[in-house]
Amino acid sequence: MTRCDEPTAPGLARLEAWGLARCPLRDLPRLEPIAAQLTQAFTDGRPAAFHSYLDAADALTAYALTFAPQTYARVAAALTGILARLPAFPEGRPLRVLDLGCGLGSATLAARDCLAPRTLAPTCVDWSAAALQAVTELIPGVRTQRADLRAFVPERQAYDLIVVSFAFNEAFPDPIAAEAALRRWVDALTPDAPAFLLILEPADRANAPRLHALARELADCPIYAPCPHRAPCPLFPARDGVCHDVRRFRPARPLILLSRKIRRTVSDVKFALLALGRPGGPEAEGFGHPDFLRLTGPMDKAKGVLTCRVCMGDGASRRLEIPVAALSAERRHALLGRQRGDCAWLDGPLDTRKRLVADTVQRAADLRFTDEPPPTLDDLDDFAFSID
Ligand SMILES: C[S@@+](CC[C@H](N)C(=O)[O-])C[C@H]1O[C@@H](n2cnc3c(N)ncnc32)[C@H](O)[C@@H]1O
Repeated sequence: MTRCDEPTAPGLARLEAWGLARCPLRDLPRLEPIAAQLTQAFTDGRPAAFHSYLDAADALTAYALTFAPQTYARVAAALTGILARLPAFPEGRPLRVLDLGCGLGSATLAARDCLAPRTLAPTCVDWSAAALQAVTELIPGVRTQRADLRAFVPERQAYDLIVVSFAFNEAFPDPIAAEAALRRWVDALTPDAPAFLLILEPADRANAPRLHALARELADCPIYAPCPHRAPCPLFPARDGVCHDVRRFRPARPLILLSRKIRRTVSDVKFALLALGRPGGPEAEGFGHPDFLRLTGPMDKAKGVLTCRVCMGDGASRRLEIPVAALSAERRHALLGRQRGDCAWLDGPLDTRKRLVADTVQRAADLRFTDEPPPTLDDLDDFAFSID
């Protein structure tokens, strides 16, 4: 799999080159007010005529240099995590990807890099003709379709991956229409494992519960992200309980320059997400397992332990503690580098995997993240020994 979290990733480089060809670095101040306007519109509610925000040439360019790279980073991070827990896509044919509310197609660019060397047969759908024109310039061989997502019915059982990035709430504020759309989309997934639908939205108090409620309605579809279980979300009752991912991001120069005036941090990306498999599809690795977890907070240092909030496969929210004494400096550093949204198995001998303080604290000697190699035979011997 290609690393798609580097600024040099092919999709990011393509977006930047496309944007700078339309507005070189020295002319970027021209885009500053437009970038600020777009940011305000995205964060402070959307005006009535919001659907035309990508029509002006400079708006598209500002989007390509600011939001599109962040979309790329969000989708690449989400896909990398989900793909690590699923069986491989079928070989011998291009993977069919549908990008709904595609904007500049940056979700498709991320999918293309994450799934390389597999080739994609991508279809991008949006109601903005200007956005679709840009997509054809950015993604060679793409099929585009101009349509209103509320009326768009994709071909049944046709797609390996359907992505809807920061377009779902915009197109489906009404909950009944939202659920019907989700049903249409999961029905458009191929019967081949591990086809899935991925929706990303801003990380706020409304989106995470909304996506969670939709997952409950589609109970016949396996959940691939964010929850490693089907229990009610243990985070919602908590005061800071917005279920979301946070991923470090190394912005390229145009984004740094354009975000100076906006005063927004761009060194990480945050997002709420939902990934559902096709009805009756396979479960993701670790789903429902009491030794499996998802980080729901940052990894921190405390006295003698590394600690982090986690959502467990048994549906509980716990504080995780990993004693540091037995860890090498390198391993501590690696664990501290883990981010909100990463998934892992409790690791180490069974007697170190303890639940403490009325089941609210989970202790483990270490974790094995889903992107780390599976245990070797030696590890399994240790494990067998600890059972005796
Ligand atoms: C915030 S942008 C996100 C674009 C892209 N997916 C991304 O993440 O960078 C929302 C996109 O959804 C499109 N959109 C919103 N409502 C739509 C609808 N009802 N039908 C088709 N496209 C829609 C907009 O034109 C816009 O391109």
